[in-house]
Amino acid sequence: MIPVITIDGPSGSGKGTIAQMLALELDWNILDSGALYRTLAYFMKENAIDIENFKENQDFLKKRFHVSFDPGIPGEPVRVLFENKDITAIVRTEEMAKITSNLAAEPIIREFIKPCQRDFMTAPGLIADGRDMGTVIFSDAKYKIFLTASAEERAKRRQTQLKRQGLEVNMRSLLQELEDRDRKDTEREHSPLIPAVDSVVIDTSNLNPEGVVKVIKTYL
Ligand code: DC
Repeated sequence: MIPVITIDGPSGSGKGTIAQMLALELDWNILDSGALYRTLAYFMKENAIDIENFKENQDFLKKRFHVSFDPGIPGEPVRVLFENKDITAIVRTEEMAKITSNLAAEPIIREFIKPCQRDFMTAPGLIADGRDMGTVIFSDAKYKIFLTASAEERAKRRQTQLKRQGLEVNMRSLLQELEDRDRKDTEREHSPLIPAVDSVVIDTSNLNPEGVVKVIKTYL
């Protein structure tokens, strides 16, 4: 059995950073499922496919939708590779986040993505980062982590991240968008964002990434 560590939580809880640190340290594969949803949103947009005409285009999408991840280097986002292109910067925008959040609430989209996510479970092990990794996709994973942090702290982290990419954003609108997205992700009917009953919940508000990894290692 391939070992899987699931890391779920809302945006800005530190999932991406922690998943990257663990993947690099253990030399395991990484699945950034949020980026997988974002890539599907991008691919659909590029091909003028929306939720209304998704069904008839499903075979075309299935044939071409092959995404891979490179954990990259610490401090920089996990890299998203699609059709021989690094699309990290394209999919990690606030605009794509908004489109993706709506799309991810659709059951037909979640069903489409499900097998793609499970394909990442290969030796020597997998770090799976997302919203429903521990509850739905890898529900029998041995190690499940759920990260949280206050909305203010998460918005601050997102602002720093965007600044690093040269993007200036208004803190108040960032916080508002983050809370709207949280609400959508936690209140949706299909695979809502909730901690798995057998997960370890860590509040990262007052911890740096090394501190979080230390807590996780104790748990592992
Ligand atoms: O983690 P992220 O911000 O890149 O995720 C983008 C969107 O995708 C976000 O609105 C939540 C959604 N998502 C999801 O519904 N299920 C997942 N496993 C991962 C992300």
